[in-house]
Amino acid sequence: MKSDVIVDTETFVRSTLDKDGTGHDWWHCVRVRNTAVKLAHEEGAEVRIVELSALLHDIADHKFHGGDKEVGPRIAKEFLEAQGVEREVVEHVANIIRHMSWSTSKEGNRAFDSLEMRIVQDADRLDAIGAIGIARCFAYSGHAGRPLYDPTTDGEYNTSALQHFQDKLFKIRDSLHTASARNIAQERHVYMKEYVARFHDEWGGIV
Ligand code: ADP
Ligand code: NI
Repeated sequence: MKSDVIVDTETFVRSTLDKDGTGHDWWHCVRVRNTAVKLAHEEGAEVRIVELSALLHDIADHKFHGGDKEVGPRIAKEFLEAQGVEREVVEHVANIIRHMSWSTSKEGNRAFDSLEMRIVQDADRLDAIGAIGIARCFAYSGHAGRPLYDPTTDGEYNTSALQHFQDKLFKIRDSLHTASARNIAQERHVYMKEYVARFHDEWGGIV
């Protein structure tokens, strides 16, 4: 049976992110939670920390809060404290949310690390690849006002949805921490490669 804290966290996340149209919505959090809990069992991590962090990880993404990276950890912390969750758990979850994002980890920030963080990060990255990853990429790109593809800006960073595959999505497989996540990523990676090849074929009128 689910604990009260998990049920209350689900309700909180759902009410906050239900209307999101950028691919960082409630169901993204559910998928990341489900994958993260599975990875936690396989990798021997603390399931409760992983589950709470996965549910809360996008509660206030800095991209949508003027670049402020403290909003998400602070909201998660205040919420969990109000639920009476133990201090060490609250701190660990806040640290995971503070340090797990792609951009933060690319800055070479090694200020915090744990098996639980690696697992939530892997689960979040797995949701950015494969069939769902493709859908999220186009949803986000549309939200940001960028085109599907533009052959005149080929290779230029952040110029279209198709470019995002080169910029980030094709790099995800080799950035994962756990063997369990790498196993899942392999097929999704190949699927995306095939998809992009097909996209270019159709664009060129070949099929
Ligand atoms: P993180 O939260 O791990 O830092 P992002 O928020 O950048 O990762 O990515 C979340 C989702 O948004 C992913 O599915 C990703 O592909 C998509 N996304 C982020 N930036 C772009 C972009 N420039 N173009 C298209 N999709 C993007
Ligand atoms: Ni996410």
